[in-house]
Amino acid sequence: MDITKRPRRLRSDGVRPLISETALSPADLIAPVFVDATADERVPIESMPGHERVPVDGIVERVQEVRETGVEAVMLFGIPAEKDEQGTQAWVDDGVVQRALRRISEETDAYAIADLCFCEYTTHGHCGVVEEDAKEDPRQTVDNDATLELIERTALSQARAGADMIAPSGMMDGMVGTIRDALDREGFTEVPIMSYAVKYESAFYGPFRDAADGAPAFGDRRHYQMDPANRQEAVREARLDIEQGADVLMVKPALPYLDIVRDVRETTDLPVAAYNVSGEYAMLHAASEKGWLDLEEVARESLLSIKRAGADLILTYFAESIASECSAGRRT
Ligand code: PBG
Repeated sequence: MDITKRPRRLRSDGVRPLISETALSPADLIAPVFVDATADERVPIESMPGHERVPVDGIVERVQEVRETGVEAVMLFGIPAEKDEQGTQAWVDDGVVQRALRRISEETDAYAIADLCFCEYTTHGHCGVVEEDAKEDPRQTVDNDATLELIERTALSQARAGADMIAPSGMMDGMVGTIRDALDREGFTEVPIMSYAVKYESAFYGPFRDAADGAPAFGDRRHYQMDPANRQEAVREARLDIEQGADVLMVKPALPYLDIVRDVRETTDLPVAAYNVSGEYAMLHAASEKGWLDLEEVARESLLSIKRAGADLILTYFAESIASECSAGRRT
């Protein structure tokens, strides 16, 4: 056989790094952190080994731990002391995330991104204002336009508290435009919006809902989050957020939706983020605890795949461990 074309020539140790197409860097990673108004000390999150809810007084220490690994950006999720029908604690001045943001911006150089949603703050656990008759008719859940008003309030209070970036995750129509107008009107023209533009109604959020105590008390989120069956709709969602002034577009979850990451990549020249969610983290951990997978290897391969699919940034619970490996000079 006359084989002149031999791809294996480029797989020797010397040449592989030269032709490597994708690399992981701590600079591309965002670490989610949970701040809990009800905690006096750190509380481990059982379904997400290695992650904890931290009290407001411990947030600076937590953020500095992240930064020591080389990751400079954190995404803040809050667990409030009290919940109500509207989710008031999401926008009050002394809300858990607002207090944490003030501490972070005054005491650290971290880049603090505020997740903006209501499910952790409402008694019913939905991502906005629940319509009167929703409990009788689970097809009707969140009132889109009434929720936009609360989104506006929350974005402004987060920006005033020192958020470097706002990340709305409620999947309300018009949320990006509403936030952009409000931020610009109040002088926050330099605060970018990272939209959870393409967020699926996914069962992979399970561990997060335990961690942040934000599971819906009735019904589900399929009237505002996207149907996992849909691909074209992701492109429509992305375009709408581009029109409304989003600065970064996010796809969530990541691993089961790599085709969508690629589609969004090809739809926009804006930066694309992907959220490697709690269930993706938990399943690798569980398998590695059983000795069936090597955690470090599968985590690295997962994040590399997400980048290869087209993501510029990755939100991941592996941020610190992967960044530590990168800094220790491990191949990526
Ligand atoms: C909504 C929100 C969720 C996640 C991030 N923001 C949960 C949901 O929509 O139910 C999930 C993140 C994860 O699973 O890691 N506030």
